[in-house]
Parts: sequence; C-alpha cells; structure tokens
Amino acid sequence: MTKNILVLPGDGIGTEIMAEAVKVLDFLNDKYSLGLNLEEALLGGAAIDATGKALPDNTFELAKKADAILLGAVGGPKWDKLPPADRPEKGGLLRLRSELQLFGNLRPAILYPQLAGASSLKPEVVSGLDILIVRELTGGIYFGEPRGIRELENGERQGYNTYVYSESEIRRIAKVAFEAAMKRGKRLCSVDKANVLEVTMLWREVVQSMAADYPEVELSHMYVDNAAMQLVRAPKQFDVMVTGNMFGDILSDAAAMLTGSIGMLPSASLDINNRGMYEPCHGSAPDIAGQDKANPLATIMSVAMMLRYSLGLEQPANDIDAAVSSVLDQGIRTGDIYSEGCKLVGTAGMGDAVIAAL
Ligand code: NAI
Ligand code: MG
Repeated sequence: MTKNILVLPGDGIGTEIMAEAVKVLDFLNDKYSLGLNLEEALLGGAAIDATGKALPDNTFELAKKADAILLGAVGGPKWDKLPPADRPEKGGLLRLRSELQLFGNLRPAILYPQLAGASSLKPEVVSGLDILIVRELTGGIYFGEPRGIRELENGERQGYNTYVYSESEIRRIAKVAFEAAMKRGKRLCSVDKANVLEVTMLWREVVQSMAADYPEVELSHMYVDNAAMQLVRAPKQFDVMVTGNMFGDILSDAAAMLTGSIGMLPSASLDINNRGMYEPCHGSAPDIAGQDKANPLATIMSVAMMLRYSLGLEQPANDIDAAVSSVLDQGIRTGDIYSEGCKLVGTAGMGDAVIAAL
C-alpha cells in the first residue's frame, strides 16, 4: 500500500538537512520496497516569499492527507519584521501543529557513547543515555481556561491560570507512552505532582488504571521535582517518561541538553491515529545556512522515528539508528560535534557517510 510522505524543507539549513534526510529515505524506500510516495511543499519563509502565506492552502491540504510529515526548520531574519502571527514560526509551523491536533510530543535524548565528551555531565553518568520523553502538547495549564490577570478588590493585581486535564486527554497521551515503551525498554515513568495537585492525582490514577492493558511494561510514578533531580543525578535509570505539557516542556529541555548537541536531537508530534510530524529540535540556523556546515543527523534520526511510529516500519528505522552509530564510530563529524582527531565533514558528506553505512 502506498504511503504519502509530505516533505517540508522550510528555510535556512532546513533545505540542506532535508536533502540528506530524503537521500536516506529514498535509499531505504528502494532497498525494502516500502512504497513511500514523497511529495514536497512550501512552509515558512519560503512559502511567504512564493505565496504571501506561511502556511499556503496547498501545503495544508497535503498535510491533512499525508500519512506522515517530515519537516526541516522554518524562520530567519528576513521575515522577523512581519507581525508575529504572519511569521514562519507562528503562522506556519505552530499553526500546522495545532490544526493537525498533534498532542503527543516525543522527544528522545540519546547520547551516543562516541560523543560523551560533549555533555555537561560526567561521561560515566551520561554515556549510553537513551531516554524518551513523551509530553502532552495541546492541553494542561498552557491552554486551561479561565486565565488572565485581574484586579482584586484591594486594587492589587492577580495573575491566574487553570491546570486541567480530562480523563480522555490523559488516556490518549498515556497510550502513546505505553506503546512507545513497548517498542523500547518496556519501562515507563509517569511524572506528576500528585502529592499537591488534584489534576495530577487524577493523572496518576488514570495512567495506573491503564497498566493492566500493558502487562509487559513496568510502570512507575515520580514527582516532578524528584524527576528533575534524578535526570541530572542518574539519567540512565529512565527509559520512557510521560508527563503533562508544562512539566514536559521543562524536563524535555533539561534532558535534551544532557546530550550536548542540538544537531543530534530528533522529535515527533503525533495525533490520535499516530499520524505525525517529524522534525529536528533545532531551528533554521541562519548563521551557518548555505555553507554545507549543518549536521543532518537530527533530521535523519527523525526519519527513523517516522518509520517507527507512524509507518510501523521497525527494520529500516533500526537500520538508520545503526548507521548513525557506525558513522560516529568511524569518527566522522560535522563541526558541531567535532573533536580533535576526528574526520570533519559537511552536511552532504555526513549524508553520504550514513548512506555508505546503510
Ligand atoms: P537554531 O536552532 O537555528 O540555532 C542555534 C545554534 O545552533 C546556532 O548557532 C546554529 O548554528 C546551531 N545549530 C542549529 N542546528 C544545527 C545543526 N543541525 N548543525 C549544526 N549547528 C546547528 O536556533 P536560533 O538561532 O535561535 O533560531 C534561528 C531561526 O530558527 C529563528 O528564525 C527561529 O525562530 C527559528 N527556529 C525554528 C524552529 C523550527 O522550525 N522548529 C525551532 C527553533 C528556532
Ligand atoms: Mg521549551
């Protein structure tokens, strides 16, 4: 059966890293006869230049029909003077994420042992780190109503937000996390503040009630303050972590930085049917755009996540992970992960090395 993949290179280094990711995907598509049909469209600044809109109608229609979306990065100084709502990020990328209801954000933090020196933590603490943070992305305190700043009777102002999760919202993100855990180390840690916040007491109860459906997964619960501490003390104890929007925002950034390089971090955002958008965590890097310097590995690893999570193609996904590891073993590095004695390559050179390893 044909699967449609929408490719959105975007701006800046987006086009360069996407060229390498597509090279890898084309290779595997041929090798395994995956039947993937790739189509490219405009998003972000490039789309503004061509059509006047950061998310053109044609792109949006293709996105709704696609089985999965692969995104580079959007934005750049050229469009910074536009009103925020029209800019590449808010008008293009964020709109696309919310229109497609991508509530399940998967953020792996993987530290290849070959790059252990790049972390801010001691090599023995982080070497071999491989954790996945599953963050709820469209609910919780970032979206709860009522919200605002009001004036009290005594004239003092008061800011307020509402932290809400319904059982169905908790269940759908927990399902993403349990299923991700099944594909990995089969350990899931749910992070909450159930000792203080009622909304997370419900969270804990609902997640716990689902454990019987996943008997192979070892479920644990942790308070968010302890989780933050454990992430910097002994991060390798974790396999998959699942948490709400705000806790996930904070913990995923902390976990990502344990790995040292933004050029190595893929991500996925899934909807209720596991349809998703896959992208590197970094931006369009205008400072190095057009210079064949960008590290394409985060985007190439996003391809692996897409194959695994949206298309159910485990073997080619494993192939990519193994190829990336092999390239690092060979000492092949782009500038952002370079250290003395390694072989420095550009964006295209790194893509070629991955193909060779495949
Ligand atoms: P950035 O992630 O683009 O760059 C931060 C630093 O990391 C830069 O020094 C850059 O050269 C480096 N870097 C990023 N990706 C790299 C890669 N693959 N290989 C090697 N080095 C890499 O973040 P910044 O500079 O804050 O934003 C630049 C533009 O990107 C802005 O317009 C911003 O709005 C946009 N942006 C877009 C995102 C997206 O499309 N998802 C996410 C973050 C920022
Ligand atoms: Mg954040």
